[in-house]
Amino acid sequence: MSSSEFDLVVRNARVATASDIFDADIGIRGGRIVQLGLGLPAGKREIDAAGRTVTPGGVDAHCHLDQPMEAPAKMADDFDSGTRAAACGGTTTVIPFAAQHKGQSLRAAVEDYHRRAEGKAHIDHAFHLIVSDPTPEVLTNELPALIQEGYTSFKIYMTYDDMKLDDGQILDVLEIARKHDAMAMIHAENADCIEWLTKRLEAAGRTAPRYHAHSRPMLVEREATHRAIALGELVDTPILIVHVSGREAVEQIRWARAHGLHVFAETCPQYLFLTAEDLGIDDSYHGAKCVCSPPPRNRENQEVIWNGLADGLFTVFSSDHAPFNFDAPEGKKPNGEEVAFKHIPNGIPGLETRMPLLYTHGVLQGRLTLNRFVELTATNPAKTYGLHPRKGTIAVGADADIVIWDEKPCTIRNADLHHAVDYTPYEGIELQAWPALTLSRGEVVWDGEFHPRPGQGEYLRRGRPSLLPIRSKEST
Ligand code: URP
Ligand code: ZN
Ligand code: ZN
Repeated sequence: MSSSEFDLVVRNARVATASDIFDADIGIRGGRIVQLGLGLPAGKREIDAAGRTVTPGGVDAHCHLDQPMEAPAKMADDFDSGTRAAACGGTTTVIPFAAQHKGQSLRAAVEDYHRRAEGKAHIDHAFHLIVSDPTPEVLTNELPALIQEGYTSFKIYMTYDDMKLDDGQILDVLEIARKHDAMAMIHAENADCIEWLTKRLEAAGRTAPRYHAHSRPMLVEREATHRAIALGELVDTPILIVHVSGREAVEQIRWARAHGLHVFAETCPQYLFLTAEDLGIDDSYHGAKCVCSPPPRNRENQEVIWNGLADGLFTVFSSDHAPFNFDAPEGKKPNGEEVAFKHIPNGIPGLETRMPLLYTHGVLQGRLTLNRFVELTATNPAKTYGLHPRKGTIAVGADADIVIWDEKPCTIRNADLHHAVDYTPYEGIELQAWPALTLSRGEVVWDGEFHPRPGQGEYLRRGRPSLLPIRSKEST
């Protein structure tokens, strides 16, 4: 092979995949990995990894960017700032949500979302659907057609008035997932229990941000998780429970697995690094910064989540980046006011910090193997949502989406992050690693400095989720 055959060689890498760790040079041409081996010939460009760990670029399979919201709420990050932050934190593919609003056609929601991404994304991206209005037209025509066109996953909600589906509607959409091979993601919290508790808290004058956690105790998540599992079982289709927060939901998922059910699970940094105390130990409004659903729990539950990450219970680790400014009328202070918890937009930022947090506190602190880190942050999200093997691995034929890690101390400071949010819930957390370099399809997007390439991030048409079981013709 002559040297001109490589556009770039990443030399002296300690490559980690979900299954192996090996020393190699990585030969890249046309944005793809074309050769792995020792002593590759020189490329047109060379990067020396100098023996550092090199992992696949992260796939953040649950984040919210420029999602249309009811006024005054507006997300701080669009496809420009969101994908910028992702790249600087070692993520090279994002899958945000094209959200249908009640009364809206699903197709119109998707078209609108493409317009929002157009010309802005610095890294590759795909869209999940959010189905909030499963009309006969959606069930019969729109959803099956969109799955066929590569939108092979959708999220449904059991809570939030503007999004939630009842059990009958959930069965209807799960049946479509089964027939057309889509991954159904479920936000599992019992809406009626939350509403009932919220009314009682309000009547008692308990409206500070910290009461958000009181309105959504573990049991509302446990009940809904169990119900989601039962609904999936009734239809005989796999489901994925998103943003699992602690022991009681984990127990339901373990129970389902022990009964042979295909139940996948996701968790997020907030359930490892935050507790309900971050929503406030008094009535201070600062707790609004950590209002998300389900809410963070306590230290014991954090341990349960760490164990689930280590032992294979969790399939994917996502940020659930939901970017609202704290000190802003379109963010956590609607119309400029400190409002009752039920009016605070739900969600916290975390796209850029997801990978470094798990690398430091998982891998370097001995809780997770490096292989498991790669599996949770890149390989499994790609497999779960139909992007593997193009994304999520370092292999010949895969996109050259690569992270070289620098193992050196640093501290999370919002001032250093690249999102457009005015805070990070992880301010002050010490890290032992941060990406030295991120390659997106062979191009340097981060090397301590961000290299913008708006519009160069490609929209990815996805395939069948490879974690879905293969069915025989008779069983469909
Ligand atoms: O509080 C959260 N998680 N907000 C984002 C929307 C969602 O439910 O994932
Ligand atoms: Zn959710
Ligand atoms: Zn979310």
